[in-house]
Amino acid sequence: MPVHALFPTLVYSTRLRSRGWQTLNARLRAECRQLAHDDAAGRRWSKRNYPGGYTSYGSAHRMHELSPTFARLARELDRHVARFAHALRLDLTSRPLALTDCWVNVMGAGAVHGLHLHPLSTISGTYYVAVPRGAAGLKFEDPRLERFMAAPPRRGRARAAHWANFAARTAGLLLFESWLRHEVPANPVAGERISISFNYSWF
Ligand code: NI
Repeated sequence: MPVHALFPTLVYSTRLRSRGWQTLNARLRAECRQLAHDDAAGRRWSKRNYPGGYTSYGSAHRMHELSPTFARLARELDRHVARFAHALRLDLTSRPLALTDCWVNVMGAGAVHGLHLHPLSTISGTYYVAVPRGAAGLKFEDPRLERFMAAPPRRGRARAAHWANFAARTAGLLLFESWLRHEVPANPVAGERISISFNYSWF
């Protein structure tokens, strides 16, 4: 077919399987729960900005500098971000890409994280610490969406092609370019969906 697919949007999805990941994940789970318990400022912030859930985004967003466990996770993330940057063909010879923010999210039943992007960063992502069966995934929006004018509906699988949903699973890791808009739809199940989100910036 004389047809070309131009300007692809890349998303990196894998599972942490390095040596000792189960121990690391168990420690992260315990620390995330402890933080949600201890962080009164974060709970106040979440009440206003993250209904139905807890996030340390407004209170403790540099966890990799506060906790050796998160620092260990950051070393894992560095490896995957380097692979993703390679796939994106980013030229990082003059300036490095470095982790700037790393925060905890705990979503209960009904919690939502509305559509957003991470405008001050280069690569963003989420690591899933604990995911109850059936919990909400991460939904990406087609970056061309606002330009579709007078577009007829599409057939078959292409009908839903303007949204891509990645299921959340424990030890799963998702990376994407920070300009790509995404959301967590309403979490339909009870039980804590715990994740760690992060930003890498180009200095
Ligand atoms: Ni996000």
